[in-house]
Amino acid sequence: MRRLVIAGNWKMYKNNKEAVETLTQLKDLTKEVKNVDIVIGAPFTCLSDAVKNVEGSNIKIAAENVYPKLEGAYTGEVSPKMLKDIRVTYVILGHSERREYFKESDEFINQKIKAVLEIGMKPILCIGEKLEEREGGKTLEVLTKQIKGGLVDLSKEEAEKVIVAYEPVWAIGTGKTATPEMAQETHREIRNVLAAMFGKDKADKMIIQYGGSMKPENAKDLLSQEDIDGGLVGGASLKADSFFEIIKTGN
Ligand code: G3H
Repeated sequence: MRRLVIAGNWKMYKNNKEAVETLTQLKDLTKEVKNVDIVIGAPFTCLSDAVKNVEGSNIKIAAENVYPKLEGAYTGEVSPKMLKDIRVTYVILGHSERREYFKESDEFINQKIKAVLEIGMKPILCIGEKLEEREGGKTLEVLTKQIKGGLVDLSKEEAEKVIVAYEPVWAIGTGKTATPEMAQETHREIRNVLAAMFGKDKADKMIIQYGGSMKPENAKDLLSQEDIDGGLVGGASLKADSFFEIIKTGN
């Protein structure tokens, strides 16, 4: 019922030439992919050429951040209007690296989500607990706060357009992955929180991705879980062939 959405997050890697080269390879590899929506999150400097490169293919482009105002005196920031103008489709928001290094709050992330929806792009809201929070039995509490804070004041119709990416912080870039069963249990809990906010009908339609050391070897087991509707892939998305191996497991 839910279509898999597998997104790469290139973070602060790749110059423009490297981005275009990797997308050209990925386009060729994924020509026959029918059952997976493919997204690549790229740095701001690559976005314009990235969008042009994938036009007519089944790959869509995501920005990795945005400022929640359409324009103004905000030196150094990039607006939703600017991203929409160059035909970016998705925006990754609230990634744990932004929460940690740039002190982004749920409230600020909520403003960004609303701004992205209002202009007609699709937000990917990242949530996830730290190791000490999981070990302290606080996972659900932390995730509930992030979901409620990130999606507060959204209508049911708006909420349905949001992708939630569950990324346990202890699994990001560490090689440690949540077991498929552990991830499934948490995804189910996330869907329950979404159902309480927006109704079961909407929650059942919402995409919940898993992220955190997803790679070709573990993707199939994770993606076959009932409530795991795709992936947000960091390291393994940097090379077209390894990202394609992950996509293939879901196709
Ligand atoms: O957004 C992607 C995540 O941070 C996962 O990164 O696949 O390198 O662990 P990773």
